[in-house]
Amino acid sequence: MPKRDFVRLFDLNSEELTHVLDRAAELKRLQKAGMSTPVLEGRTLVMIFEKSSTRTRVSFEVGIQQLGGRAVFLSSADCQIGRGEPIKDTARVLSRYADLIMIRTFAHETVKTLAEHAAVPVINGLCDLHHPCQILADLQTVRERRENLAELKIAWFGDGNNVAHSWIEAAGRLGLHLVLAVPPGYEPMADIVEEARAAGGRIEITDDPRAAALDADVLMTDVWTSMGQESQTQQRNAVFHPLQLNAELLGLAKRDAFVLHCLPAHRGEEITEEVLEGAQSAVFDQAENRLHAQKALMEFLVTASTT
Ligand code: CP
Ligand code: NVA
Repeated sequence: MPKRDFVRLFDLNSEELTHVLDRAAELKRLQKAGMSTPVLEGRTLVMIFEKSSTRTRVSFEVGIQQLGGRAVFLSSADCQIGRGEPIKDTARVLSRYADLIMIRTFAHETVKTLAEHAAVPVINGLCDLHHPCQILADLQTVRERRENLAELKIAWFGDGNNVAHSWIEAAGRLGLHLVLAVPPGYEPMADIVEEARAAGGRIEITDDPRAAALDADVLMTDVWTSMGQESQTQQRNAVFHPLQLNAELLGLAKRDAFVLHCLPAHRGEEITEEVLEGAQSAVFDQAENRLHAQKALMEFLVTASTT
């Protein structure tokens, strides 16, 4: 059996994605009931971070502990990656010590190279192109509120970035209707959109936030300036301003619509305080679900790679 990686959301087929989401819901129920689930007892996850993180770091570390394993945290600044050791060497060495590797980095190519040379499953904990673990948690949050995912209008406001790309792939895998309001020049990558459409996703791209918000069931956004883009902040603030997720846009959506944001949020920029803290916000359930979804993912990858 070749080992399995989660470099992008498309690395799971529809059945596998549904299985991971079902298992995430089950693991959440078991954890709330105080039941232990030591399915990865004695296993070790190595986590490499080349960018900052709160949710990803803590949810992976706590998640592997709750499954009976342990985590090793590596900041690239403190290990030999930061001094130029090739990623393919790092991949082979870490594979001799660990059962899983998670990486948060800049170039998607780095994650791919790590996965190619590692003998154990590699998980993308965010790169410049994808944030697939986030979307597992997002999908779990939507499924907790709605049964008919394929009938929903899911609206994205802002950058056609890593989080948007992974949502586009989820739309492909699950046949979702995803409308992205993005400014010209900040559209998601055309090949990712085309691949997801070919897989069955109903993906629309517009520069009109009101059209995207109209009768939407789910509204979501992300920071206008992602990690590594800080030099563009001023320009991005000006371009993205009309796409702010505020009460006016939310007012165009269905009455029972809810709001997602992967966090960290910049209140007053991509989302208002009123919307983020309002009754229709699901963002803290969404953040919690990182833990449950990633536990299900780690169990799936280890099991699928060894059976
Ligand atoms: N949403 C998310 O990935 O958060 P962190 O950057 O805190 O990990
Ligand atoms: N798009 C954001 C997501 C942060 C979780 C970034 O890449 O910085």
